[in-house]
Amino acid sequence: MADDLSEVLYQPEEIEARVKELAAQIDSDYAGKNVLMVGILNGAVMMMADLTRAMHEHCQMDWMAISSYGSGVASSGVVRILKDMNAPVEGRHVLVVEDIVDTGLTLSYLLDNLRSRNPASIEICAAFRKPEAVRAQNVQVKYLGFDIPSDFVVGYGLDYDGRYRNLRGLGILDPKVYSG
Ligand code: PRP
Repeated sequence: MADDLSEVLYQPEEIEARVKELAAQIDSDYAGKNVLMVGILNGAVMMMADLTRAMHEHCQMDWMAISSYGSGVASSGVVRILKDMNAPVEGRHVLVVEDIVDTGLTLSYLLDNLRSRNPASIEICAAFRKPEAVRAQNVQVKYLGFDIPSDFVVGYGLDYDGRYRNLRGLGILDPKVYSG
């Protein structure tokens, strides 16, 4: 897989170190609150596994699977819930865990949906964020791993055509892979 990258942006050790810092922050902010961590499948699996295992406080894990409406050419941000959480949200401190915030449209929609279920609080944790989401300012990422460039990146949960999610670092996919 590493041969298909044009550039490595973050080595596994750099991601691990940053995730540990985020875990310490989350431990401190949610001490005694049994935070309900909600991972958005599939990409968030790696971040969720590393983040929760770096924590020392109790937490609960749950998952949602969503699919974007439309052709996929331009994201509307409107999503269809394919798999909902098992745990009730009402009165809980919820932390949504994502691999990447790209345009921010998915999370903006999802947060509205989750807020309507009356959580005690709701925040976002994401491994990576692209400039588009910073410009759009439609979601506030309280716990962020790294701001990254807008290139096509893979690894640490992020895929191209279902592959590269298990790459431990994060890199820019060489255009030769998708331009044929
Ligand atoms: C990715 C990512 C977010 C969303 C972000 O999921 O995990 O859910 O896109 O994009 P946005 O900020 O522009 O809305 P994707 O649909 O690729 O599914 P996956 O996690 O299964 O790869």
